[in-house]
Amino acid sequence: MSNVVIVGAQWGDEGKGKVVDLFTSWADVVVRYQGGANAGHTLVVGGVKTVLHLVPAGILHPGKKCIIGNGVVVDPEALLEEIDLLRSRGLLADATQLVVSENAHVILPYHKRIDAGREKQKAIGTTGRGIGPCYEDKVARRGIRVRDVLKEGALRTKLEERLLGGEKCELEPLLQWSLKLGERMRPYVGDASEVLSHEVAKGRAVLFEGAQGTLLDIDHGTYPYVTSSNTVAGNAAVGAGLGPTSIHSVIGITKAYTTRVGNGPLPCGWLDALVLRYAARVNGLSGLAMTKLDVLTGFEKILVAIAYQLPNGKTVSEFPSDPQLLEQAQPVYEELPGWKERLGDQREYQELPENTRRYIERVEQLVGVETIAVSVGAERAQTIVRKNPFRHP
Ligand code: IMP
Repeated sequence: MSNVVIVGAQWGDEGKGKVVDLFTSWADVVVRYQGGANAGHTLVVGGVKTVLHLVPAGILHPGKKCIIGNGVVVDPEALLEEIDLLRSRGLLADATQLVVSENAHVILPYHKRIDAGREKQKAIGTTGRGIGPCYEDKVARRGIRVRDVLKEGALRTKLEERLLGGEKCELEPLLQWSLKLGERMRPYVGDASEVLSHEVAKGRAVLFEGAQGTLLDIDHGTYPYVTSSNTVAGNAAVGAGLGPTSIHSVIGITKAYTTRVGNGPLPCGWLDALVLRYAARVNGLSGLAMTKLDVLTGFEKILVAIAYQLPNGKTVSEFPSDPQLLEQAQPVYEELPGWKERLGDQREYQELPENTRRYIERVEQLVGVETIAVSVGAERAQTIVRKNPFRHP
């Protein structure tokens, strides 16, 4: 069995939830390695809707281990809300099914206040969940980690230092509130890296579930309109506490077209081959999963951006790293014939309309990566799998 990383290849919201759900069914262990409650999946299982922001959706499958790695920023209230919800549904009866890294950083109420205050000055369009300010504290080496909210003495000292550093809030209520939540998290807290390394040694299939998308990566995204973590596949190892040699395959999820939430540049709403080629480069993609293909039904012609025309008259075929150039880039399109047939009932790749296949294959050619799965509707069954990435080639 292989260990697989799944990442968004665009600006987040690529329809990852559905692909994660499918991949989870093949995995034994599911790991979150970055981000926090700014991500989210809505899952409908047996007609019951469950919304999860932090706990991997694998938790809905008894027997699968779920890990929240050191690279995640944990909002204790959000986490406990999810745990309570799961337990009220009879899930997570065995606390060892979920392991929260003791080294993950904790989002405290002041992080959310700072996030909201900043948004007034600089509109990045953040989710307001305190993600950025928590990562800032981590890098400034004044963060509070999950292990700290389990120990009153250590927490008191760290909070005192933090509050002296300028946060306007009263120590005692914050301390007691944090300890109370810490106590409730305690059964789930552990050495995630060690647990995971045992699972890998046993040959269990591990899915590393990336949140957000490649173009929201703090280093490789459209800075400053990005999130505060590395969303790319390389961070899966760092944020989970394993070495990169534990990863065998990286799958990028892409919509059949392009969208972004929040603010920042978006050169084109059709599929952008430059973005996908870039995602293939910075993640080392071994496969693509294309979602929402059904949305493209009915267009006479389908366009794909294959280059950008820059204001200096130059045409480039690689995604520019200069945000100013990106702002002014005009996409150069290739036209492909559209299809009229409704998608959704096809279960085999060969059943797709010829022009749909032609589109997929042209994208593969432009990006240089094969498409291992195609989603043609919202339902779980409306996914055509061409290759299971957990099987060694
Ligand atoms: P933050 O992660 O809340 O700091 O937000 C920073 C940027 O990332 C904003 O543009 C958000 O809209 C975007 N973002 C954060 N999480 C997600 C996500 O899960 N999907 C899509 N965009 C996201």
